[in-house]
Amino acid sequence: MKKNTVTLTDNRTGKTYEYNILDAARGPSVVDIRTFFQDTGMFTFDPGYTSTASCKSTITFIDGEKGELRYRGIPIEKLAKEHTYMETCFLLLNERLPSIDEHKEFDLELRHRAFLHEGLRQLFNAFPDNAHPMATLSAAVTALASFYREHLELDTEEEYQAMARRIIAKIPTIAAFSYRHSLGIPFIQPDIDLYFTRNFLTMMRAYPGGKMHLGLHGHEEIKEVEVRALDTIFTLHADHEQNASTTVVRNVASTGAHPYVAIASGISALWGRAHGGANESVIAQLEMIGSVENIDTFIARAKDPNDNFRLMGFGHRVYKNFDPRARILKHLQDELRIELGLNTELMAIARKIEEIALSDEYFISRNLYPNIDFYTGIILTALQIPKSMFTPIFVIGRTVGWISQLIEFKKDKSSKIARPRQLYTGK
Ligand code: ACO
Repeated sequence: MKKNTVTLTDNRTGKTYEYNILDAARGPSVVDIRTFFQDTGMFTFDPGYTSTASCKSTITFIDGEKGELRYRGIPIEKLAKEHTYMETCFLLLNERLPSIDEHKEFDLELRHRAFLHEGLRQLFNAFPDNAHPMATLSAAVTALASFYREHLELDTEEEYQAMARRIIAKIPTIAAFSYRHSLGIPFIQPDIDLYFTRNFLTMMRAYPGGKMHLGLHGHEEIKEVEVRALDTIFTLHADHEQNASTTVVRNVASTGAHPYVAIASGISALWGRAHGGANESVIAQLEMIGSVENIDTFIARAKDPNDNFRLMGFGHRVYKNFDPRARILKHLQDELRIELGLNTELMAIARKIEEIALSDEYFISRNLYPNIDFYTGIILTALQIPKSMFTPIFVIGRTVGWISQLIEFKKDKSSKIARPRQLYTGK
């Protein structure tokens, strides 16, 4: 019988070292090298962690080759089609979908917890006009830690749940206030009569007094199809295993810092264009292309090896087949085009680029499919959400994932402070 191990030979000395292979429930096995330094006196070198599993996790599974994504074992397609974002939050936090009563109780508690302390509201005034909502959001979440110092010490399940529910409920309010501050318009308070996602859209769009835009036919209410679309976007962003911002959240939590400070660090990490900031760049690029007639020039630039230009919203480090989240959003985009009657030049450009890229040898041979950011940018534009709020919307969806990963980390007795070593090449 073959042993479930890997043997490494140091060819300088001929010494061999044997390491156990740990089999995953799904996906690649890992080599357990925790004693590698102790055994060999050497470190492993893996900048960017392309071959490193940084933790054990039971939360999210991705198969990049097959284009598969599951939360707690449930395929993302099923969650997007049959469940709300609130149910998805409950699932991520509790490892199972809620019963009807649990769902009601969870939803109700989050509505009650959506309000911000009056003292925290003052913080927004410290930011300049036109401050990017991501900067305000990250700072306000750090400030939140000072209002809830009791969450520094977490012991019972109730304490973990209260900490998690509080931040998930407050993030949309902070995001909406950050946006309204950037425009210099009055904040709209949360409304406990409204579902999470409708409440967020209302806090973004409403006039003082909670009234909707006045149109020719009276007040133009937020349509159910818009709420559903945004709810799906939140679900699709809810978690994505050990990506850059989640790794940051775990690493900050590993020092014993307050959980909300760890989340604020995740928000900062997400802001970069190579991560959550990409959705903003997709629309900026479509606006730069400007018209369907100009597309060929930009496609030629994307294919030119001597040009750094890249088609934003195409390609993915992990998905080398279609991003399953993008497939869901593509259908949603088609639905919205019909239901909201949207036929803007921007959508026409996006459709044409997608059509060309999906049939062009350059993109096919490199597995460059449209990713989630390509469609979120288009859909959020259709929902009248300004570009500066695209990444904050990603934050709203992802907060539950960060919190679930943080709780998993804190409950795991074998967790250690994150402290990698280096290959020193200096003087
Ligand atoms: N447009 C044109 N060519 C591209 C693109 C693109 N968007 N993406 C990759 N390529 C080409 C590269 O030039 C390279 O070509 P070559 O083999 O001839 O040199 C090949 O495809 C492989 O590219 P890599 O950069 O090695 O692929 P990697 O997996 O490292 O990068 C990434 C993935 C960063 C997402 C990349 O595809 C990219 O920059 N895309 C545009 C930005 C974007 O949409 N980011 C959002 C990602 S999704 C998310 O974060 C939620």
